[in-house]
Amino acid sequence: MQFISVAVFCLVFIPSWCLENLVFPPDFKFGVATAAYQVEGAWNVNDKGESVWDSVLHSQPSLTMDRSNGDVACDSYHLWRRDIEMAVELGVNMYRFSISWPRLLPTGFPNIISEDGKRYYNDLIDGLLEKGIEPVVTLYHWDLPQSLQDLGGWANPLIIEWFADYAKIAYTLFGDRVSTWLTINEPLVVCDGAYNKMWAPFLDDMKIGRYLCNKNVMMAHAKAYRIYDEEFRPLYHGKLSMPNIFFWFEPETPADAEVSDLLLQMWEGRYSHPIYSKTGGWPPEIEKVLAENGKREGYRQPRLPTFTKEEIDFVKGTYDFYALNHYTTRLVRKEKPGQAGPWPFYGCEELDVSVVNDPLWTTAVTDWFAINPEGLRKQLHWINSTYGVKDILITENGLPTVEKDLNDFTRLTYIKSNLEQILLAIDDGINVMGYTAWSLMDNFEWSSGYLVSYGLYSVDFTSPNRTRTPRDSARFYYSVIRTRSITSRQNELNYV
Ligand code: NOJ
Repeated sequence: MQFISVAVFCLVFIPSWCLENLVFPPDFKFGVATAAYQVEGAWNVNDKGESVWDSVLHSQPSLTMDRSNGDVACDSYHLWRRDIEMAVELGVNMYRFSISWPRLLPTGFPNIISEDGKRYYNDLIDGLLEKGIEPVVTLYHWDLPQSLQDLGGWANPLIIEWFADYAKIAYTLFGDRVSTWLTINEPLVVCDGAYNKMWAPFLDDMKIGRYLCNKNVMMAHAKAYRIYDEEFRPLYHGKLSMPNIFFWFEPETPADAEVSDLLLQMWEGRYSHPIYSKTGGWPPEIEKVLAENGKREGYRQPRLPTFTKEEIDFVKGTYDFYALNHYTTRLVRKEKPGQAGPWPFYGCEELDVSVVNDPLWTTAVTDWFAINPEGLRKQLHWINSTYGVKDILITENGLPTVEKDLNDFTRLTYIKSNLEQILLAIDDGINVMGYTAWSLMDNFEWSSGYLVSYGLYSVDFTSPNRTRTPRDSARFYYSVIRTRSITSRQNELNYV
């Protein structure tokens, strides 16, 4: 009989005994996450500048499903002490939040550093540290100063310097207390999403703007990394990365294997290969397909701008760990030219593929959110084997619901199943450093407004003090953190 390892057996069957004895390693960190525009509110207090989200939603409220915006959101600008208290209640080791660029630098440039912005983030960081919670800070979570958008935003290569100036100020002000930095959240959304009219500033330029942005975010990240490396790491010994959103893609049939790999390279590779691969630069297969497409369409220059040799070396290796935002899985199917879909966010139109769901997967909220926790473990393996990256931090994972109930069994189950897959991946030998649940609380979910919730805590958006109340998923997460395992006794533990 052929020998089947425990790991392979557990990968296929996952009986409860595979997990009962698995515990999270002592240095594994648990966290929760939020982002400035989604929670802070106070969009115009003191000298705060306008962000692209402020500006576009004030002029075009119909861009969100409930015509809402982040003007007040969870009011964390005023209620940050309660946010810290919730993190303490959960027992997390880290709290991931983002700095609002226009709150810290009202003009977008370093000529004015807001005293109020400085005070706000100092209070938050100090408040967390007092409670023994590590601040994990994202520099950019999509709220670009409108002043910089007016100058071309992420399509203008000068943004590499603008972002570097901003990053340097943040390191200077907070680097003595922040040792985990995340540069640009989900660059795929910053470029492919924003240039496809799905995120602010809701541009429509998937042929050129999307790819100019793609190159500029990679360069901006690399510059921010190099500055930290040279000027701040010797002082503070921190770590940096760029959180990538990953959908796990699988072929619908064995015949679709090649296009499924290609779509992974289109999504994940375009934002990872330049940093994490041994050779650097764009994923060669994607560079080739896009060059051919562009030529056929009559462009004289590649639509995906090339990297010079110096630029390849500049970007390559600019990471200390892989930061992964993971939510869902899709199946990929090869199509005849012109029949691809849905496009272009997924990149299907460039590759002649469609993305579909496995009928066996349940879905959350909308059809695109298929629940397939095994995809996370496969993805961790893919990152590990494709790039040889040792350490992976899960910077986001969570489930959207339309229901606002405190009894959120589906979210609890989703988090549980994903944590199980992480335990199995750790058992396979992959160093998953930690897990960050999205989100600490319900918040402004971009174009879905407040109709969709991700919170471990529910937020009453009708109450002036935005009352926060723990859900069952919060109780579950607390007990996992306390026992550092997923056991059948989970529900017996009391929560504060
Ligand atoms: C990823 C983003 O970083 C976050 O802002 C968003 O709310 C979640 N995904 C859920 O869509």
